Amino acid sequence: MIRVALILVVLWGAVALLPTAQAEINKGAPKMMLEGGSSGPVPFPHQDHQTRLADCLICHQAFPQEKGSIEKLKSEGLLQKKQVMNKQCIKCHRAEKTAGKPTGPLTCNKCHVKE
Ligand code: HEC
Ligand code: HEC
Ligand code: HEC
Repeated sequence: MIRVALILVVLWGAVALLPTAQAEINKGAPKMMLEGGSSGPVPFPHQDHQTRLADCLICHQAFPQEKGSIEKLKSEGLLQKKQVMNKQCIKCHRAEKTAGKPTGPLTCNKCHVKE
């Protein structure tokens, strides 16, 4: 009986903590402008991707959830130039297109805008 009560208390505690834990997730800016080197900056609808994709780690396994982290890792030699562009953005957009689903841009000047 005591054991059951204890489990109930633990469960209740976990459920009570859930909403606060969720409220603390920092989702970052809904829209952002990424550095695109000589080809010009890249507008990126962050929130649309968060809504659409199940897991933050699809992108954030390669770079942390911090503004400027891609450029920082590139400058440290921990990410190749165009690695995120080719291995994430374009790779996924191409796969979605092949699957006949709505997708994002695949050509240079649809992503890079000239300043
Ligand atoms: C499709 C790729 C992608 C997905 C999915 C994604 N992000 Fe991001 N996120 C980015 C990019 C790109 C940046 C910008 C990094 C930079 O500035 O170098 C970023 C930056 C951030 C930042 C820092 C920027 C700011 O405005 O503070 C936070 C926080 C963040 N993401 C949280 C999340 C969370 C939480 C999720 C999941 C709910 C998520 N992201 C899903 C691509 C993604
Ligand atoms: C789906 C969007 C997208 C498309 C399409 C795209 N790019 Fe990019 N590009 C990016 C993003 C995001 C970055 C920054 C992250 C990185 O370097 O991986 C970038 C970075 C770059 C850089 C800077 C690399 C550096 O660090 O100096 C160049 C140059 C570039 N792209 C050229 C091109 C060219 C040329 C094409 C067409 C053949 C192209 N991009 C197509 C999104 C895109
Ligand atoms: C894992 C898959 C995935 C990754 C990674 C991804 N995207 Fe997308 N992206 C999508 C899908 C799916 C759509 C189409 C959403 C829709 O129209 O419903 C999209 C749409 C877009 C659009 C068009 C939005 C609009 O309003 O028309 C842009 C711009 C874009 N992505 C840029 C990027 C850039 C830049 C990166 C890399 C930093 C990136 N995406 C990474 C899946 C991805």
